[in-house]
Amino acid sequence: MTTVSMTVNGKAVSGEVEPRTLLVQFIREQLRLTGTHVGCDTSQCGACVVHVNGNSVKSCTMLAVQADGADVTTIEGLADGDKLHPMQEAFRDNHGLQCGFCTPGMVMSAVDLLQKNPKPSEHEIREWLEGNICRCTGYHNIVKAVQQAAGV
Ligand code: FES
Ligand code: FES
Repeated sequence: MTTVSMTVNGKAVSGEVEPRTLLVQFIREQLRLTGTHVGCDTSQCGACVVHVNGNSVKSCTMLAVQADGADVTTIEGLADGDKLHPMQEAFRDNHGLQCGFCTPGMVMSAVDLLQKNPKPSEHEIREWLEGNICRCTGYHNIVKAVQQAAGV
């Protein structure tokens, strides 16, 4: 076992992990932050996306030890108390979710997109979200939500 320490949603955390423990396992099973989902075992679905040092990352593709010392944000870290993040509001306003399983990863990816490209075209939004799979919505309302959040 190895000790890992990182900042998660602004709070310093640490824990004992095996070298093979994935970041998503550490987040869900040790920190009990279960908003980050696991939707596949092939690194394709994007339900597990979190931000690591400001970049969206599939947390099932990274070991917890690789995030030692990192600044991590999960979906639980986006809202400000009872006030939803504008991207969360936009998903709600545009019916960008049905079952909601993909939503945390979608929102985290979309927030990262707007940090890097504040006024993306529809094509750029669709391209950016290619790594996130939604089985319910047909993506149309998700794209509208990201456009609303971007004000485009
Ligand atoms: S659980 Fe990470 S990509 Fe599917
Ligand atoms: S809302 Fe169900 S998978 Fe996307």
